[in-house]
Amino acid sequence: MVDAILPLSVENAQVRRRGKVLVGPITTTVSETGLSIVMGPNGAGKTTLLRLLHGMERIAPGGQLNWQVPEPKARGQQGFVFQAPIMMRRSALENVAYPLIIHGMARSVARDRAKAWLARVGLQGSAEKRATVLSGGERQKLALARALIRQPQILFLDEPCANLDGRATREFEALLLEIHQEGTRIVMSTHDIGQARRLAQDVWFIHHGQILEKTPAETFFEHPESMEARAFLQGDIIE
Ligand SMILES: Nc1ncnc2c1ncn2[C@@H]1O[C@H](COP(=O)(O)OP(=O)(O)OP(=O)(O)O)[C@@H](O)[C@H]1O
Ligand SMILES: [Mg+2]
Repeated sequence: MVDAILPLSVENAQVRRRGKVLVGPITTTVSETGLSIVMGPNGAGKTTLLRLLHGMERIAPGGQLNWQVPEPKARGQQGFVFQAPIMMRRSALENVAYPLIIHGMARSVARDRAKAWLARVGLQGSAEKRATVLSGGERQKLALARALIRQPQILFLDEPCANLDGRATREFEALLLEIHQEGTRIVMSTHDIGQARRLAQDVWFIHHGQILEKTPAETFFEHPESMEARAFLQGDIIE
């Protein structure tokens, strides 16, 4: 049995670049379960926040992330899906097997697991195709399989459907809901309000690098607390 890495307690965490604060200081908790949707206007800090939580950003002095286990251990229990994932110029199967192989699993076992994951995301027919020739929707499913193959406890996704059409988006959402139901904690950003309504259990609304609201989805969509969120939901420009 693997130790639980969640809840994550975030204390006073801040990301700065060249003296400018991009995100934070943020103090919050990421609970053990749930499907959280991060929303906010362009430049609000959604990507930076997800990268911060995933340990990809240097946290300014005075702030920290406290997982329930030491950071290197927590790292292996997290997955991340980017808006435009980088694929190796190898087969789809090799791309999915790769995270297992670099962590020491025998190639044949890793390939078998990768096959099972490809089937799970509906890409069994594309196993031997070069990952770089897949369509946008197929690539995101591949990225999802690759992020999940090590069975992370938490999965971060940064606008994974931004370049997908309606059908590919729905297929991707169906997979996410399944994975969530099987127990994976999900934190995902989107600018698509319809998608947020379909998926969110709670919404984190980000503006100018701060979490202005962290509310159950129903409350957020029916009675947003902040003026900024109200304006955002109405499609207004917010400063
Ligand atoms: N590498 C960087 N160097 C300097 N500033 C950056 C860098 N990356 C992001 N920023 C700034 O940090 C702020 C937050 O950016 P971030 O990409 O996190 O926003 P976002 O909410 O994800 O936006 P979008 O909706 O456009 O994806 C923005 O003001 C952006 O200009
Ligand atoms: Mg972004």
